[in-house]
Amino acid sequence: MYGGNLKKRTHYCATLSIKNIDEEVTVCGWVQRQRDLGQLIFIDLRDRSGIIQLAFDESLTNSDIFKKAFAIRSEFVLCATGIVRERSSKNKNIKTGDIEILVSDLHILSQAETPPFEILDDSNVNEELRLKYRYLDLRRPCMQKNIMTRHKIIKIARDYFDENGFLEIETPILVKSTPEGAKDYIVPSRVFPGRCFALPQSPQLYKQLTMLAGFDRYFQVARCFRDEDLRANRQPEFTQLDLEMSFVDCDDVINMAEGFLQKVFKEILNIDIKLPLRRLSFKEAMVRYGSDKPDTRFGLELQDLTDIFRNTKFKVFASAVEQGGSIRAIVVPNAAEKISRKDIDKLTQWIKAYGAAGLAWTKLNADSTASSSFEKFLSDQEVSAMHSELKLKSGDIIFLVANSKNKVVFDSLGALRNKIAEKLNLIDSSNPDLLWIVDFPLFEYSEEEQRFVAMHHPFTHPKFEDIEKLESAPANVHALAYDIVLNGNEIGGGSIRINSRDLQERMFKVLGFTREEAEKRFGFLMEAFRYGAPPHGGMAFGLDRMLMLMLNCSSIRDVIAFPKVATSAELMSQAPGKIEQTQLDELSLKLSLPNS
Ligand code: AMO
Repeated sequence: MYGGNLKKRTHYCATLSIKNIDEEVTVCGWVQRQRDLGQLIFIDLRDRSGIIQLAFDESLTNSDIFKKAFAIRSEFVLCATGIVRERSSKNKNIKTGDIEILVSDLHILSQAETPPFEILDDSNVNEELRLKYRYLDLRRPCMQKNIMTRHKIIKIARDYFDENGFLEIETPILVKSTPEGAKDYIVPSRVFPGRCFALPQSPQLYKQLTMLAGFDRYFQVARCFRDEDLRANRQPEFTQLDLEMSFVDCDDVINMAEGFLQKVFKEILNIDIKLPLRRLSFKEAMVRYGSDKPDTRFGLELQDLTDIFRNTKFKVFASAVEQGGSIRAIVVPNAAEKISRKDIDKLTQWIKAYGAAGLAWTKLNADSTASSSFEKFLSDQEVSAMHSELKLKSGDIIFLVANSKNKVVFDSLGALRNKIAEKLNLIDSSNPDLLWIVDFPLFEYSEEEQRFVAMHHPFTHPKFEDIEKLESAPANVHALAYDIVLNGNEIGGGSIRINSRDLQERMFKVLGFTREEAEKRFGFLMEAFRYGAPPHGGMAFGLDRMLMLMLNCSSIRDVIAFPKVATSAELMSQAPGKIEQTQLDELSLKLSLPNS
């Protein structure tokens, strides 16, 4: 019971300090631990602000209360009133370590069974158990801090965008399917048997329509749903800080986003970000780092050796060059002692996931002997040309990938670069590595679908000077698009949008949609373009991902109160659950399960 003659809380536990000495205060919270020293009992009481020590002294405390304190166990919920006093033995490890409350009144508001794990930051509990009892896991101070910081970023975003004239507009959650690359989550309609809503992968079309509606600047803390393979930095349900602006070009959106980032880094981490941020073209990012989200906190840049091997007799290299691919390498300085043959064998297996058939390597040992997986197939001239091009020194290791597809070369060496930097501890994490990637191609060719697909989404505006090449040379058309990268992760992206019906139709055509398909899927947008569409553009930050990186968390789950696991299940509530036959009947659905 909380009420009756119970005193109300006057302070959060860790907001008390030496300044409150001699004051009577009331605190509420959970018991971190109870220590019984005979005539003295101490209880560490925890709330979202931190911990305060409650003291019970047999010679000073009322005997009923002393007895009550004796019986208290971890995670009991208490309300305690008493006088703040200076501690005789101070604890430098906690914020309130100079003081304690000598308790004069104590109420047990709830008892607790022994929890399945101790509520400690560094408790080594497996994540499955933590997620099953997420409400206990969330009691841990580090999780409380993450969730409170999440609140703070959203507050900063709302204030910042409001100050800059943005209106927060909610867009629907039950929408028509407008795929953005991932699969949709589908919600069957009861009223229209056989028809379904989809959950939005992002509010893309709706936010564009707010521009057509004349709102000029839109902002939303937007829930997005994507049924895709999960990784450490992905969730099926995640949150974007989503914005859109009318009458703008790329620089206007980028400047607005940079102002936001500057504010967030200052207010959350007290880090001053110098503006403008660096911009790297997509091409330069790929050629130097093998990635469109490069981590530029370390070197290990890719080097192109294709020209050296243009006339080689070594079949693997020759066929890569002949088919229009490339041969590229990274040099890892002073690594001969640190990366063993066994490590290289493991890397060779690992890199296959990126499509590379193998990983060629040369190791220049300190005693100036060399070992190599491939130099024996080369002429002396080729070997020395390669060594001098790469400016090799003893102790260096070269890793080289040759492939007929440049994408494979970039993907595999880009991933290897990150992997080695991590293994050899080459990453200087003292400053955030923030940069824009610009000048993206509008399309990329999908081998799987045998057609061009949009690199961002189909509503992205081509560069004005490239519009004429849209049909004749789609691969050479660049987009008015930009991504923001933090420490090698894409934390946001956006573009200037197409705002004419004619150009949007041409775009759909290049993407292989028939007129009917385009009409069926995006007809309402095309229709809207008839009635006056302002030039507009915007972007979205991935809030969860951004927060995870800013707080140095290893998993995106650590910044989401109730996240999903890799199978997209939620372990606490056990969603997704089975649905009742009556619900299926209402929705006119019949299940066809493999074993039923
Ligand atoms: P995009 O698809 O690039 O753009 O998404 C924007 C940002 O959202 C984050 N993100 C994710 N975070 C967690 N889990 C996921 N599954 C996930 N998928 C994406 C990334 C990404 O940079 N409508 C456009 C934006 C625009 O053009 O304005 C869009 O959704 O950090």
